[in-house]
Amino acid sequence: MLAIEYEKYGMPNVLKVRDVPKPVPGKTDVLVRVHATTVTSGDRLARSLDMPAGFGLIGRLVFGVFGPRRRILGTEFAGEVRAVGSRVTNFKPGDEVFAFPGAGFGGYAQYAIIGQDKAIALKPADLSYSQAAALSFGGGTALNFLRDKGHIKSGDRVLVIGAAGIVGSAAVQLAKHFGAHVTGVCHTGSLEMVHSIGADEVIDYTTTDFAVTGATYDIIVDTSGTATYRKCENSLRENGRLLLVSANLWQLLGMVFARKKRGKKAIGGYAPERAEDLVFLASLAEQGKFTPYIDRQFPLEHAAKAHAFFESGHKKGSIVITVEKDIA
Ligand SMILES: NC(=O)c1ccc[n+]([C@@H]2O[C@H](COP(=O)([O-])OP(=O)(O)OC[C@H]3O[C@@H](n4cnc5c(N)ncnc54)[C@H](OP(=O)(O)O)[C@@H]3O)[C@@H](O)[C@H]2O)c1
Repeated sequence: MLAIEYEKYGMPNVLKVRDVPKPVPGKTDVLVRVHATTVTSGDRLARSLDMPAGFGLIGRLVFGVFGPRRRILGTEFAGEVRAVGSRVTNFKPGDEVFAFPGAGFGGYAQYAIIGQDKAIALKPADLSYSQAAALSFGGGTALNFLRDKGHIKSGDRVLVIGAAGIVGSAAVQLAKHFGAHVTGVCHTGSLEMVHSIGADEVIDYTTTDFAVTGATYDIIVDTSGTATYRKCENSLRENGRLLLVSANLWQLLGMVFARKKRGKKAIGGYAPERAEDLVFLASLAEQGKFTPYIDRQFPLEHAAKAHAFFESGHKKGSIVITVEKDIA
């Protein structure tokens, strides 16, 4: 089958088109004919090993010390089930599914394998494969931070820093779903896009510093890696939560050791990949309450170009990779 592989960390051109053996599902695995996958910040990290400051060693331990342990990227994908292992009961050939293997990767290929107990769910019929492929990474991360870590509730005022990104654009839409008043922070070129996905207010970070506007929030979500507890403290209301989706080691240490007053909290951590979250996101997508924003699509053979576009700066939402070619 056709796949995109890489053997060493580096720039987008380390991604090569290869002909590799089609994977064979184990007893509890589902074999999916991939129709679409994406370029996420997770794929970018694993390809470049350009880790946040202080996490270089951890990056090598996770992705492979001397080179990538998993040579086929693709943290999320959507497609059609073509075969299942002998003990699979949840899925059958012909099912349209989407999946979130996360650091298990595997989406940059014509076929991918995922365990039936991992993060995989039925694709809503009205959703295209491209939209379904882009549901999990941003949606799953935003859901975990806002609902599970941040305990968002109706009426909260929420600030999303990096509102035009993959996680940020999902956070804007999910926070609106949970009944919050949402302010997005983004670059000038993304102001219209962030309004269009439902933000009540938008701040251009090139002209305005949210921290000096005097506005206060119950939740501040940072997906840009630019926030610190100290910077955000005066913008947080009593019991306000700063959710650091993206942070380097020093930001995390600053968050842990900062003296916090009036019940304020700073929360970082990892968003796990969970099937029940995919089911929840699929239901929101079916109701039109969460639609992943797709900036551009590239065919699988141009995965390196898709990564280069991610690197070029100021992309909006998700970049989708389509897997058109079929094989017997
Ligand atoms: N903790 C977890 O489990 C978890 C899970 C997923 C992702 N992450 C991390 O979360 C981060 C975001 O991921 P993503 O996939 O959403 O990446 P992304 O699509 O690249 O989004 C990042 C956004 O930050 C914006 N940005 C950059 N500088 C900014 C600034 N000074 N002020 C406001 N916004 C700014 C960018 O906008 P412009 O391009 O317009 O500047 C971009 O839209 C990554 O670091 C990723 O590693 C963590």
